[in-house]
Amino acid sequence: MTTSLFGRDVIRIQDLSLNEVNHVMQTALKYSSALEAGDLLDVMKGKILATLFYEPSTRTRLSFETAMLRLGGLVVSVAEAKSSSSAAKGETLFDTGKMIEGYSDVAVIRHPVVGSAKELADGSGAPVINGGDGAGQHPTQALLDLYTILKEKGKVDGLTVTLAGDLKNGRTVHSLSNLLSNYKVKLNFASPKELAMPAEITEPLKAKGAHISEIESLAEALNDSDVVYMTRIQKERFADPEEYERLKGSYILDRAMVDAAKIGLTIMHPLPRVNEISTDVDDYAGAAYFRQAANGVPVRMALLALVTGMA
Ligand code: CP
Repeated sequence: MTTSLFGRDVIRIQDLSLNEVNHVMQTALKYSSALEAGDLLDVMKGKILATLFYEPSTRTRLSFETAMLRLGGLVVSVAEAKSSSSAAKGETLFDTGKMIEGYSDVAVIRHPVVGSAKELADGSGAPVINGGDGAGQHPTQALLDLYTILKEKGKVDGLTVTLAGDLKNGRTVHSLSNLLSNYKVKLNFASPKELAMPAEITEPLKAKGAHISEIESLAEALNDSDVVYMTRIQKERFADPEEYERLKGSYILDRAMVDAAKIGLTIMHPLPRVNEISTDVDDYAGAAYFRQAANGVPVRMALLALVTGMA
């Protein structure tokens, strides 16, 4: 299979064709096997990844940095980029992007503002990967979510997938719903009405013919779900703290709900969780969220190698 990912930015999930997504999945499987075999890879020897995180992260940052090191490459990083980079002196992301290709071969950015990854990419001659831009998109999370569904279920077509929680502000569900709409999947959107999936996401999906149901009852959605994707209520995106307090406990998945759901339910969550999944669910066989987080390493290895032309 040919790929045209060499030199490309990864800003929105819909920027990747289905062939390109499949190529990322195949490459990730190859690297996963190599990691399981204990192989020492030098695919990215001599290459440098720059990580610029203007917003907190555990998984995205650590898994990108781990991915680069597992490929034999190097990492340079601005810790707490908001306060310790020249952004604090007023430098634009476009100008920061101009620095990227002089220092590194590829960059990952996380930023609280929608469109920030694109602004960095516009200034950069080296590929830029969006590690989450505000309530916009998180395309690499969607890729590792798809990889997780494939590993847990063995297929995507024919599944019913429920996305639950803060669908308004959750960038992971914006990217994932877009990606899953390319498959024969039924999507349930379960949220309080104040946190419904925005029309700018649902309208293009409906225009593509995606099979979507909007629903308020999580228990009802679980009756026919093969996968439930829980999300955190995004406290940092609320202008009104009282509204967050009112909505924060909207959906809590506990073991009794899992036991009443369709048999074989797979439970996912991009993490971090606050209280959306009770800890009594953690030892349920279909609780995939920690495996999902680990899948970030081979998927991000694949992306790094592909956009730099090393895979
Ligand atoms: N899933 C995810 O983006 O986690 P972090 O915020 O820890 O990177």
